[in-house]
Amino acid sequence: MLNDEVNSSVLETLRKQRLFRYDCNSPEESEVSIFEKKFATYVGTQYAVAMNSCSSALFVALLCAGIKPGDKVAVPAFTFIAVPSSIVHAGALPVLVEVTEDYVMDLNDFETKVADGNVKALMLSYMRGRVPNLEKVIEICNKYNVIFLEDAAHSLGVLYSQTQTGTFGLAGAFSTQSYKMIDGGEGGVLVTNDKNIAFKAMLYAGCYEHNWEKHFGTKEDAAKLKDMTNSIPAYNFRMSNLTASVLNPQLKKIEGRVEFLNNNYATLVDILLKCKNIRIPAFEENVRPAADSIQWEFINLSEHQINQIIAGLATHGIEINVFNGSNARSFWNWMFFEQNEKCPFTKELIQKTVDYRLRGNLSFGDIELIGNTILNEICNVL
Ligand SMILES: Cc1ncc(COP(=O)(O)O)c(C=O)c1O
Repeated sequence: MLNDEVNSSVLETLRKQRLFRYDCNSPEESEVSIFEKKFATYVGTQYAVAMNSCSSALFVALLCAGIKPGDKVAVPAFTFIAVPSSIVHAGALPVLVEVTEDYVMDLNDFETKVADGNVKALMLSYMRGRVPNLEKVIEICNKYNVIFLEDAAHSLGVLYSQTQTGTFGLAGAFSTQSYKMIDGGEGGVLVTNDKNIAFKAMLYAGCYEHNWEKHFGTKEDAAKLKDMTNSIPAYNFRMSNLTASVLNPQLKKIEGRVEFLNNNYATLVDILLKCKNIRIPAFEENVRPAADSIQWEFINLSEHQINQIIAGLATHGIEINVFNGSNARSFWNWMFFEQNEKCPFTKELIQKTVDYRLRGNLSFGDIELIGNTILNEICNVL
């Protein structure tokens, strides 16, 4: 994915010897501020605050939303360990919510779990780019006074009714870690349309003294920012100019990359659905996916047969995993908070669900070969 344009952008940053985002006089001279501006434009929000990871952005989003130690925060049980971790980091308690067989948060279970009025916020994880009915999510949040926050780590490029996911709630967080749509090695971005949230996020992320002058969109609020500075701890989660210079040239490639990945995804789905032991839920019509991975459920196969298929595919260099064993997405492995909700449906579903990354360099021929090899390995164990 990285190319000559990225090389020259990084070399230019090195040549200038300005690796720190605030080592400049104005936002126009900061690679990170430029990235924030372009990122906000791409996703369609007023503000973006770049950080060192999505996990930092999730943590900061919770603090900005006023989550306090002891508060409860709902989160779908099908997500990555970093998401409940960010909730625990804020001193809050994750409340796990079941997902449906479409891998999206189960809205009935969500409503049941927030109905007592004790859940302060929802951290909706668009795990593997899957999106529930957002009108319904917002309706339930409004009904029970639940603050809506979004973990869009995996959903840069995923649109819901033509709007970027991660922009529906009070704040959203994206990841630019290597396995995501744009690759900065590490990195994250908090987005919001709320000025107060954006300013607080800047300060939590480590904007100290007068450095807010080096962010876009702050000029008219100098007095406000002067007042806010030092009233919020600076956790120093800043992104460096080096990371931003890797990311900046990739932003304009997202749409092309999404189209390429979605074509590969559609081809692979067509091949795999020839097998009656594979179930792949379709995306809703109003969801434009950005399919950088594929998930399917193995049906009518034993655990032993599934393990045989996984082992067989590994001999062909095709590494697939189910959400089992020590997988960091298997919620029953998370021992760092008390799990009062068992989410049996999600456990049963994801243990038989395959996770396979669709790399950006796979050709049509590669996809055909991978699909047919998977079908052959399934036939071998039947
Ligand atoms: C669903 C999900 N949310 C959040 C994160 C955290 O992202 P980061 O690694 O940038 O902290 C990840 C990381 O892979 C993830 O998969």
